[in-house]
Amino acid sequence: MNSASEIFKEDTFKGKVLLLTGGTSKMLYQPALDFMKLGGNVALLSRRIDQLNIVADNLMKESNNKTFAKGYQIDLKKASDSIYAEVIDKVIKDFGRIDVLVNGAAGNFLAEAEKLSLNAFKTVIEIDTIGTFLMSKHVYAKWMKNNGGTIINISASLHHLGTLLNSHASAAKAAIDAITKTLALEWGPKGVRVNGVAPGMIEGTEGFDRLIDLNKATQSKNTDISKYDLDFFKKYVPLQRYGTRNDVSKLVLFLASDLSSYVTGQTILVDGGVLGITPNWLVHFPEFIKTWTAKF
Ligand code: COA
Repeated sequence: MNSASEIFKEDTFKGKVLLLTGGTSKMLYQPALDFMKLGGNVALLSRRIDQLNIVADNLMKESNNKTFAKGYQIDLKKASDSIYAEVIDKVIKDFGRIDVLVNGAAGNFLAEAEKLSLNAFKTVIEIDTIGTFLMSKHVYAKWMKNNGGTIINISASLHHLGTLLNSHASAAKAAIDAITKTLALEWGPKGVRVNGVAPGMIEGTEGFDRLIDLNKATQSKNTDISKYDLDFFKKYVPLQRYGTRNDVSKLVLFLASDLSSYVTGQTILVDGGVLGITPNWLVHFPEFIKTWTAKF
């Protein structure tokens, strides 16, 4: 399957700057790399500066040092308005502009609602929701209000239906979707498009690693649910496979580029069609379907 950088026109993002929060995220490495391969520069934000520096080096090596990546330390959880403003000033000083903001920072873990402490719930809201809001607010004030731009908020599919053990992250992502719509309305007149990307089950990400752990735990117990392994669930994805980081990257770059010039306020699912369907157990009983449909 082709990557975004093989599909888009070379130099699509020449001279452009992408600012990415959650700079050490496995999922968002791919859009950052594709953006650089297509001529853009990338500023990465995270609380873990050592890891950020490694990511920045890898991005530059993998994109043949054509363009530039640099990391900036910020703990979104503790940040105040002034800390956000300060880090954005540094990015603008170093890079000269911010064309695309990707709000990708997210905290998550699986926990029963009744066992979540106030601080646990608040931590995820602070990283995901408040982080997305404050970063957008300050990038808008300091750059996009006068120069236009594109904001892409990384959402999720888990809050579209209820998802077990995810009350904190579901609340955080639902709020992000609401922020996406409001900012699109308020900032559209200034040439700022605001959209969301809602990934489903994407292989090679922190979220998917957690699913693998859960799966290993259930398999080792050898109970009735042992047959529901990851291969089994894959059959319920209309596209019959889990997503890849390339799938996510292609949507992020579509929203970052002029290909989506008339799209704003949308949060687009990239989940292989899972949320569009009623889980259809019958597809696994073709003989039953054949008998049943033969009656009509
Ligand atoms: N179950 C229940 N509570 C948990 C928990 C878990 N698995 N992990 C953390 N918490 C609670 C802590 O106990 C603490 O609450 P307390 O002060 O009442 O005890 C609170 O959350 C904050 O935890 P702390 O460890 O101080 O914060 P942190 O800054 O290290 O952040 C995470 C914790 C979970 C947000 C962070 O480690 C993280 O983001 N991890 C996963 C990243 C990830 O997978 N991102 C991709 C998103 S799909």
